Amino acid sequence: MGDPRLLQRAAPVTAFGTPELHALIRDLDDTMRAAQGAGLAAPQIGVALQVVAFEVRDNPRYPWAEPVPYTVLVNPEVIPLTEEMEEGWEGCLSLPGLRGRVPRYKRVRYRGYDPWGEVIERTVEGFHARVVQHETDHLQGILYPMRMRDLSQFGFTEVLQAAGRL
Ligand code: NI
Repeated sequence: MGDPRLLQRAAPVTAFGTPELHALIRDLDDTMRAAQGAGLAAPQIGVALQVVAFEVRDNPRYPWAEPVPYTVLVNPEVIPLTEEMEEGWEGCLSLPGLRGRVPRYKRVRYRGYDPWGEVIERTVEGFHARVVQHETDHLQGILYPMRMRDLSQFGFTEVLQAAGRL
């Protein structure tokens, strides 16, 4: 956080299935897994392209979260299917050691492409919907604290855990 590249809009990918795109996705996967992230967006590794990856499966950073299948999404768009929002704890590999409660749409449809240009379209809710909204926000230059409504719900992971808030 603080790096201006995290505040920029990412450009759409124009060529699918290229060695460059596959190399970027390998970098995203390696970084996400090494840091036990639930997801990662290309701008977080300094690449201003519309590519995100996410996966939640027995993640020690999010022990309460339901599983989310491993997905790479290129040029995604997210459409809320309800006006109803719910608050939930989020972290971000660009803000290490911090968590905040962020309002997100409960149910969304998302549409994008896989690395070979095949359409991916899903209707999701809960933590899956939260992860997609968080990751696609990175492509618009938005970090989760910019979505928070109550900064008293923001803190260091260790302190929040010790206080039984997380
Ligand atoms: Ni993030």
